[in-house]
Formats: sequence, structure tokens, C-alpha cells
Amino acid sequence: MLEPGLVYHRRMRWLVVALVACGGSTPPPSAIPIAGLSDADRAAFDDGLAEFERVYGDSDGLGPLYVVTACAGCHQDGTRGPGKTTRMVIVNADGYTAAMDQSALPFGHLVRMGLTAGAHTPVIPPDVPHLKVTTRLGPQLLGRGYMEAVDELEIANQETIQAARTDTIHGRVNRVTFDSIPNPDTTFENYQTGQTNLVGRFGLKARQATIDDYIAGAYQGAMGLTSPMQPTELTNPDNLTDDLKPGVDIPIDALDRVAFYVRRVAIPPRQDVAGGAALFDAMQCSVCPC
Ligand code: HEC
Repeated sequence: MLEPGLVYHRRMRWLVVALVACGGSTPPPSAIPIAGLSDADRAAFDDGLAEFERVYGDSDGLGPLYVVTACAGCHQDGTRGPGKTTRMVIVNADGYTAAMDQSALPFGHLVRMGLTAGAHTPVIPPDVPHLKVTTRLGPQLLGRGYMEAVDELEIANQETIQAARTDTIHGRVNRVTFDSIPNPDTTFENYQTGQTNLVGRFGLKARQATIDDYIAGAYQGAMGLTSPMQPTELTNPDNLTDDLKPGVDIPIDALDRVAFYVRRVAIPPRQDVAGGAALFDAMQCSVCPC
């Protein structure tokens, strides 16, 4: 588990590097926005980054169960990790397809070891048959705004093109349901609770349609922080329904600031290390244009 101090420690380290280099050092990619932002938008980007790096404590509504105390704990400096998630699923006899019956996991699929606000029982993998446990580092998040901006007709078009291929490469759109409370900020979309057939774009197996919806789920699952989009604490073995901060833990504008930031982090210039781009094409990775 990542200690809150680690995030501060890493920020301090960058500051020291910057000071030693007397202004010659470049910031981490996570601090570089897309080109062309107005001064106001640049300030909002910086606010969002600060919110993304904010370390939450018990009195801020952390928990009752959590994995890590800051977004940046799993998405540090625009690189991967160091925090990670461990997920569980009950699989069929083939060892990999998810079984219909997931009742052996009454507290969900995410392992949550952090305890606060009176919780004393973590969510850990139960000793049951056909349990598959996987671990993932937080991925780097650079340029995800571009993924959200791709027109859904274009994604459907790519699915059609790939369906006609004669090899086995057939990308399929994962259609998902919006199960959050709608964000009052409808700049990017205006999905309603229960709306189905949306193009999944983010997270494991493209399970969420929008960046703000993904973020609301990350706050709720990885940090135990409820928000107006996901106002309910996840169920837990101690049957706790709240933490040390009564009610909803973070306001919608904090969530929106982080979404503003994630939507505008730039993609760093590509460096072609040892012909990697050509290999990527040769191995047909680039058939999926993402
Ligand atoms: C405990 C580690 C952890 C924490 C904390 C965490 N994430 Fe993540 N995040 C992940 C992992 C692992 C993934 C990979 C996809 C998945 O598991 O769904 C991910 C994926 C994402 C994605 C989707 C990226 C993609 O390409 O699909 C976004 C956006 C994101 N995280 C934002 C956030 C924000 C914002 C926060 C803070 C509210 C946060 N994350 C907190 C581990 C974490």
C-alpha cells in the first residue's frame, strides 16, 4: 500500500531536481497541458493537477475501505504506478471467462486493504474455487482527452472495417450502461442514469464511457470517496455505510477539476526507440487505431 507521504516525497524530489538544475529542468509529462490553453484554462489545469495529487486523510472522507490515498499514488508523474489494483473474478471451468454467478464476491471485485473510520475487515481474495486474481499498475494517463474526443461513429466504423478482415483481428465496441448520477456539467455529454448502449472507452476492457464517470468510480472504489456522481459507499464486510466525513465526501467541482486536468494532459512527443514503431506495425498492433 502506498503511504500518503510517498506522493509528497516524490513531488519534493522533483522540486529539488528543478532547483538544482536552476530552471533548466523540464516538468514531468503529467504537468504539461495540450497547446493553446487560455491563461484561465491553464490555471484550471494546474488546479486539477493539484487535486489529482491531493492526498486524502480520514477526516476528508477516505474509506471506510480504500486502496491508495491519492490519484497520483497510482498514476505518478504521468508514468505507471507505483500504486496498483488487484481485482478478483470467479471464472468458469475454462479458467478465464467470467462466471454468471459472482455471489462468492459480495463486496465486489476490487481488493481493498486500507482501513479507516471503524473498518477492521479488508476485502481480500476469499478461499473459493475458480477465483482468478489479477494485478494492474495504474497506467499513464497522458492524452486520454483525445480518446474521449473520437466520434463514436468513427469507432463503430473501425469495428465494421475490422469485422471484414480475414485474419483473427476483430476489435469490438464494448457497449456499456451509464450507472452514475449525471454530472450537471454537460459540456462533454449528457448521459442519464441507466442509459444503455454507450461506447465504452476507459478502464479495464473499456468499461466506462466518459472520463468524469471513470473518475467518480475511481474515487469511490480506490479511495472510498463518494461524490455527487457516485454518492454511496461500496458495501464492505463490516457493513459500514459512511466514514468520518458524514455524507458525500467530495463536491462535484473537485471531481470536475480533476476531469478538466485529465482531459487536457498532452501526449509527449514520440521517441522511436530502436525501430519500435516499425515493429509495432509489423506485429499488427496498429490494426487497432488507438
Ligand atoms: C489503486 C490504484 C489507482 C488509483 C488510486 C487510481 N487509479 Fe486510475 N487506474 C488504475 C488502474 C489499474 C487503471 C487501469 C484500468 C482499470 O483497472 O480499469 C486505471 C485507469 C484510469 C483511467 C482510464 C485510463 C484508460 O486508458 O482507460 C483514468 C482516466 C484514471 N485511472 C484516472 C484516475 C483518477 C482521476 C484517480 C483519482 C480519483 C485514479 N485514477 C485513481 C489505478 C488507480
